[in-house]
Parts: sequence; structure tokens; C-alpha cells
Amino acid sequence: MTTAAKKVLVTGGAGYIGSHTVVELIENGYECVIVDNLCNSSYDAVARLEILTKHHIPFYKVDLCDAEGLEKVFQEHKIDSVIHFAGLKAVGESTQIPLRYYHNNILGTLVLLELMGKYDVKKLVFSSSATVYGDATRFPDMIPIPEECPLGPTNPYGQTKLAIEHILHDLYNSDNKTWKFAILRYFNPIGAHPSGLIGEDPLGIPNNLLPYMAQVAVGRREKLFVFGNDYDSRDGTPIRDYIHVVDLAKGHIASLKYLDAQDQSQGICREWNLGSGTGSTVLEVYRAFCDASGIEIPYEITGRRAGDVLNLTAKPDRAKRELKWQTELDVAAACRDLWKWSTDNPFGYQLKGIDAKFGT
Ligand code: NAD
Ligand code: WQD
Repeated sequence: MTTAAKKVLVTGGAGYIGSHTVVELIENGYECVIVDNLCNSSYDAVARLEILTKHHIPFYKVDLCDAEGLEKVFQEHKIDSVIHFAGLKAVGESTQIPLRYYHNNILGTLVLLELMGKYDVKKLVFSSSATVYGDATRFPDMIPIPEECPLGPTNPYGQTKLAIEHILHDLYNSDNKTWKFAILRYFNPIGAHPSGLIGEDPLGIPNNLLPYMAQVAVGRREKLFVFGNDYDSRDGTPIRDYIHVVDLAKGHIASLKYLDAQDQSQGICREWNLGSGTGSTVLEVYRAFCDASGIEIPYEITGRRAGDVLNLTAKPDRAKRELKWQTELDVAAACRDLWKWSTDNPFGYQLKGIDAKFGT
């Protein structure tokens, strides 16, 4: 007798990291159901996931804050576990409209957790962020950053991530026999699926380095602005731990498997950094992307961006030891895959007809 595939509810599964994780889930024998309100994504990503995986993927255009809409998903599917990506993520925007960030990210998570409790779905993998560490360079002995590093987000977006981490711990403490939570703190996800079918498709002007550079390379923007070269680094530009999105997606499978392997009568709530452990400067990444694309991207050095810090590099040892996960792909591979996505889809997902069908 064959056992039925486990069904994973992927919130935010039409988005950048969620869509890549759906591919890995299906490759690992899981079934997926996606819930996404498409506020920062397109149904076209889901359509392409079906082409890429050759699987039907049930999709619900539902806002997580809509308890009734979300409950329908739990009624119609026997969900085994949840990977919770859905959230607003723009640091700068969160300082302009903080209430929207607190409302969307925190209320959405509360509604989800209440329904999980009601339907006895007790395993969740949560997308946290290195942003919870804030300016970790305050603790020079803690670079690269271990999970024990003191936390101190410096913007409302980061505060929502930390608040959700606290909510998960409180819920676990209230019933530590059944809830199983994996809190994954991502560093800087970059790149795209090597097929060129799915990738990152930011709305408006990209905030992040790689998407901005890619838009310059395909001619959508004039030049890259490098935000400061007067930092105390190899070349004066800040250091980040860039991680290929496919490696990151695999980290979710590893953490789901880890939760599954835990003692049935024992809950867990634990954090893991998902990073490579290797830092790259802005100019090193710039060079890698120019090499991958064969284009010398015009750039100008400007002043520092408010809120930027010198060095955010992960100490990923805990994930390696416990989840048996580590990155396999480097920045060059991520640049190569981003370039394929960018040249195959210079304007990202643009099948507006399909979006219109879902009323976006
Ligand atoms: P994304 O915007 O591409 O994906 C998030 C998805 O969630 C989008 O498709 C959006 O439409 C959906 N969504 C947002 N609010 C929703 C709601 N209330 N109900 C239903 N759907 C909703 O972002 P991403 O880069 O894929 O990030 C995924 C998660 O990882 C986010 O929680 C983000 O904060 C976190 N994260 C991202 C990064 C990064 O640099 N990309 C780094 C660390 C953590
Ligand atoms: C990287 C480096 C910039 C754009 C952000 C969030 C963090 C997490 C990951 C969600 C910095 C420089 C950038 C540009 C530049 N997201 N840069 N010109 O700021 O490290 O992290 O994404 O959780 O919370 O803050 O990423 O890609 O914006 O910047 O020079 O046009 O590139 O100064 O040194 P960041 P980023």
C-alpha cells in the first residue's frame, strides 16, 4: 500500500521565495496548496509552477487576514503542515506605512495560527529574516552572526518578524507537546530558478541590489547607484551573505523533514540562520553579475543609504549540524540564473489576462 503524499499549505506561494520552495516541495514528493492575495505577485507564477512541476497546484486568492476565506482552505484540504511566507517585506515602505505592516504581517499570522489550532495542523515553518538582528556590528565578536546574537530590529518590518517569532514561542510554551515551529532567518536571497521560468519580479523600483542591477542590464534603468564606498571593508562597500534562492528553498524542505523527525510526543520551537557563511561586498557582487551577463553595467557611487550596516554575514553552523543543510550554490551561479530569468522575462511576469481572471 502506498502512503498519501503529505500536503503542505504554502502561504505567499506565488511570491519569490515561496514559488521556488513549491518546486522543491513537489520534487521531494509533497503536495502543495497555495494561498496568496497576489498583493506583490502574479497568478502567472502559479501557472508557470504547474508547467515546471507538471503538477496541478490548488491556488486560493485569499488574504490571510480573511479568516472565512482561509478556513475554506482548511476545510477543503487535509493539510499536514504550513510554510508561511505571506507578508509585506519592504524595509523602507514599512517606515512609511507601519500600521499596514503590523496589520498584514501580524494579524495574517494570528488568523493562520488560530485556524491551524482548530484543524489540528501543528507544524509550521516561518520566514523570518536576518533583519531581526538589526545592526549586529554592535557586537563585533558575533560576526559571522550566530542565532544567539542579541536581537534588535531597526524598522517596523523587522519588528513584525520579531513579534511573530515571539508569538510562535508563546504558543509553543502554551502547549509544548504538539506545536512544532521552525523559524528560519534568511540572509540575502538572490538568483532565480535555473529553468528561467520563475524568478523575482519586484513591483516598481527594486529596493534590492540584484533586481536593480538586472533591470539596468536589460535596459529598464539607466545605471546602478552604489550606496557608499566608505565602509570599513575590502573595497569600501558593505558586506552581505547572499544566498541562492534554490538553496534557500531547499532549506525549507530540510526544516520540514527535521520537524517531522522529532519525537511525536514532543513539540519544538527553534531558530535557524539560512545563509552561506560567506560575505560578499556590493562591488564583488556587481563584478559577478557583469561577468555573468557579459555587460559592463554603468554605476555611480552615491552616499550611504539610511539604515545600512557594514556586515551581515550568517554563522550557518546550526542549520548544517541540525538540519543537515548548507548552501551548494555560489554568487556566480545565482548571477547566471538571475541573468537567464532576466533575459527570458525582461519585464517579469506580464500575463495580465490571467491576473484579471482572479480580479487583481
Ligand atoms: P514576496 O513579496 O515575493 O512574497 C510574499 C507573498 O506573500 C507575495 O506573493 C504576496 O502577494 C503575499 N502576501 C503578502 N501579504 C499577504 C496576505 N496578507 N495574504 C496573502 N498573501 C499575502 O516576498 P519574498 O521575497 O518571497 O519573501 C517571502 C517571505 O520571506 C516574506 O515573509 C519575507 O518577509 C521573508 N523574507 C524575505 C527576504 C528577501 O530578501 N526576499 C529576506 C528575509 C525574509
Ligand atoms: C544589499 C547591499 C546596499 C541596492 C534587505 C532587507 C533585509 C532582507 C534582505 C527581508 C547593501 C547595496 C542596494 C542598490 C546598492 N529582506 N545596494 N544599490 O539591505 O542587505 O537587506 O533584503 O527580510 O531585511 O533589509 O539588501 O539588496 O537592499 O542591499 O548599493 O540599488 O547593496 O547598500 O549594502 P539588504 P539590499
